[in-house]
Amino acid sequence: MSALQFRLAELSDADMLQAWQQQPFLQQALGDDDWQWHTELSKRPAWREQLIAELDGQPIGFMEIIDPALEESHYWGACEPNLRALDIWIGIPALLGQGYGTQMMAIALARCFADKSVKGVLLDPLASNTKAHRFYEKLGFEFQTQRTFDDDVCYVYYLSRANYEKSRL
Ligand SMILES: CC(C)(COP(=O)(O)OP(=O)(O)OC[C@H]1O[C@@H](n2cnc3c(N)ncnc32)[C@H](O)[C@@H]1OP(=O)(O)O)[C@@H](O)C(=O)NCCC(=O)NCCS
Repeated sequence: MSALQFRLAELSDADMLQAWQQQPFLQQALGDDDWQWHTELSKRPAWREQLIAELDGQPIGFMEIIDPALEESHYWGACEPNLRALDIWIGIPALLGQGYGTQMMAIALARCFADKSVKGVLLDPLASNTKAHRFYEKLGFEFQTQRTFDDDVCYVYYLSRANYEKSRL
């Protein structure tokens, strides 16, 4: 398997990201939130990294890492400091289930926990996205609670630094 690389997402990725998200498999997995790519990709706030995963120079996936306590819409509500929250997806259906998501998560988690102040990482897959639940559980994430964000019923998963260090990918 070829190695993945990450680069920062650019405004010029907006159309590709929007087209990826309009695919039925991603609408089903992620819901139909409007990520406002053209607006958001032109900003680089300190509390967020938006990244494109590339395979042999070709974009295949997207990942976002935020500090949920500092994120300006307070999507996660009142949140303790020193956490990170992730969103991840592969945009090309033929590349699902081949280990690329696992590689992306390994890189993302190393990036999160490289900051020694970070205590843990949160995820909020839709309650209906059972494939994602299995994927995250395999990586050591633990189910915390069911929670409704906007209109989406989600499962909250958490990986503490201690569990990350125990089960390092
Ligand atoms: C969730 C997602 C990122 C996982 O990435 P992925 O590349 O599909 O997942 P992986 O291939 O790394 O691992 C998933 C499965 O493939 C298997 N796998 C791992 N390496 C593999 C390889 N080299 N070849 C074949 N299968 C492999 C894993 O064992 C796992 O098997 P499982 O069915 O028993 O769980 C991806 O499926 C995706 O983008 N889904 C749609 C969007 C989504 O749901 N995002 C999450 C929102 S919270």
